[in-house]
Amino acid sequence: MRVLVTGDRGLVGRAVTAALTSAGHRTVGFDLMDGHDVCDAAGLERMSAGCGGIVHLAALDEPVDDPGLAAFGPVTTGTDTRVFETNVVGTSNVLRAAERRGVPRVVVMSSVDVLGCFGGRGRPAYLPLDDRHPARPAGAYAMSKWLAEQMCQVATAATGLCTVCLRPPGGCSPSRPTPGYGGPAATSPPSNGRRSGSTAPSST
Ligand SMILES: NC(=O)c1ccc[n+]([C@@H]2O[C@H](COP(=O)([O-])OP(=O)(O)OC[C@H]3O[C@@H](n4cnc5c(N)ncnc54)[C@H](O)[C@@H]3O)[C@@H](O)[C@H]2O)c1
Repeated sequence: MRVLVTGDRGLVGRAVTAALTSAGHRTVGFDLMDGHDVCDAAGLERMSAGCGGIVHLAALDEPVDDPGLAAFGPVTTGTDTRVFETNVVGTSNVLRAAERRGVPRVVVMSSVDVLGCFGGRGRPAYLPLDDRHPARPAGAYAMSKWLAEQMCQVATAATGLCTVCLRPPGGCSPSRPTPGYGGPAATSPPSNGRRSGSTAPSST
């Protein structure tokens, strides 16, 4: 199957591309680093042609003061406006491209941040966390991810498009070691781990 992967040049994108390729799929990358912008609806639609699925990973985080926390999640170069443009408008464009090009399934990388109970931002309503836990997004990044999930739900209800939203906690790799989560540069646990913890994936 041909699969479009947005954000394929990032930490998760490289791993997803490798996994898809080794499973026999053909991937098509769509990353700002190669001149492709998810805010470009026409470009996304063009590149989605003939795909059996889209894995949507491209995203920006808001600025994070603590360098330990900045190690979690995507690159933190975005202003709040740019975060919303990339994460919300970008996801809308992905869903529209899938709809227009007849791509039957879309996987969207959300974040555990939508729950709002990590990094001292609030206590969980209950444990263990599951898909019924209330979302309490705080900040542009978390809100943009929550809005992306809502758009997936609406797209599925309206068009039958199969969407799956995942809420991963912090990821790390040898190329981007995350303090406290192993790897060569692991030093100490994050003092205020905004993306620590885990939750079940949410699907629509
Ligand atoms: N890594 C984590 O710990 C973590 C945790 C929770 C959620 N996530 C989510 O997983 C996804 C991937 O995260 P990551 O850690 O690989 O991030 P990353 O920053 O390593 O990769 C993101 C990629 O998206 C690209 N990108 C940014 N803006 C773009 C745009 N407008 N158009 C096209 N490409 C664009 C970047 O060039 C980059 O290659 C993101 O959606 C992120 O929110 C990651």
